[in-house]
Amino acid sequence: MAAAAVYKIRKDRIPKAEDLFNPYNVGARPFLKWAGGKGQLLDTFQELYPRQLIRKKIKTFYEPFLGSGAVFFDIAQKFGIEGAYLYDINEELVLTYKVIQKDVSKLLDFLFRYQRNYSKLEKKQRQKFFYDQRMNYNLQRFNIDYNKYSDHWFPRAAQFIFLNRTCFNGLYRVNSKGEFNSPAGDYDNPTICDEQNLLAVHQVLQIAEIKKADFKEIVSDLKARSFVYFDPPYRPISKTANFKAYSKEGFAENGQIQLARLFRQLDKEGAKIMLSNSDPKNNNPADNFFDDIYKGYNIKRVPARRMINSVPEKRGIINEIVVTNYSIA
Ligand SMILES: C[S@@+](CC[C@H](N)C(=O)[O-])C[C@H]1O[C@@H](n2cnc3c(N)ncnc32)[C@H](O)[C@@H]1O
Repeated sequence: MAAAAVYKIRKDRIPKAEDLFNPYNVGARPFLKWAGGKGQLLDTFQELYPRQLIRKKIKTFYEPFLGSGAVFFDIAQKFGIEGAYLYDINEELVLTYKVIQKDVSKLLDFLFRYQRNYSKLEKKQRQKFFYDQRMNYNLQRFNIDYNKYSDHWFPRAAQFIFLNRTCFNGLYRVNSKGEFNSPAGDYDNPTICDEQNLLAVHQVLQIAEIKKADFKEIVSDLKARSFVYFDPPYRPISKTANFKAYSKEGFAENGQIQLARLFRQLDKEGAKIMLSNSDPKNNNPADNFFDDIYKGYNIKRVPARRMINSVPEKRGIINEIVVTNYSIA
């Protein structure tokens, strides 16, 4: 993209820390649309968090399947936690979080140009622009060092956000080669550069350690008086609803079983733990998969709207399963 004057953040738009951490003024929201995002369940989750978190006795939070971080943003701003460990296996996602954490103004500079250039285009030109960016994004992934923070990360993060905000349904999907392959969306006025929210996100991320990691790394990071929220890729509710492609690695049934083992291990170490997943009983009332692997823990079923289904009529209300190792009032 053509160079432009450096984007200046308006000082009156930078949120103050005391405003952000005021429980009645939740300022930072997820900046990505993400499959399985928990934004719609936050009100339900308020009733399911451990008492110690609500009473601000818990100081450290872990979210090893971060995605758009809906639960992290909610908890970080309401319950006075002092440290958060956020992991995801998706390196593009993690790169983007790190850029927002460290260099939000440089990111805004690129996003502002995306917003300006894209808004000027006609519908057909927008599609072309999207597919050009998508191709460039897929080609450039071989030139990025995901382990070493650098100036190359700023345009990469901006391109990731641009594609997320303008692709069909905001669905981040990669094929087995790791190529992002979601088609263009059809939005009149997509918000690509949400300056106010990204500044708030930047502030909230200052308490976080963010890393590209497998969920099992939590074992070596776990501290006393912690709350862990696990939101792994869904176990498909039917053979056709098998969305699982956040990354080329996928997450097989064996992953669910390893996670259940880890849940028991962390329970023994004293962490408060909550886990959500799709309820297989939506399709087959006799399927006891989660009831079996989480036997002995509290299992609650809560209604949720499922968006990930290529057939719009099938995006209905279904149950999600919530497992906790503490009793819920
Ligand atoms: C259901 S989504 C989480 C959604 C999130 N709670 C939200 O509100 O947006 C699952 C996430 O787990 C990540 N993931 C998949 N396999 C993983 C693994 N082995 N370790 C860590 N993260 C993984 C995916 O990249 C995806 O972002």
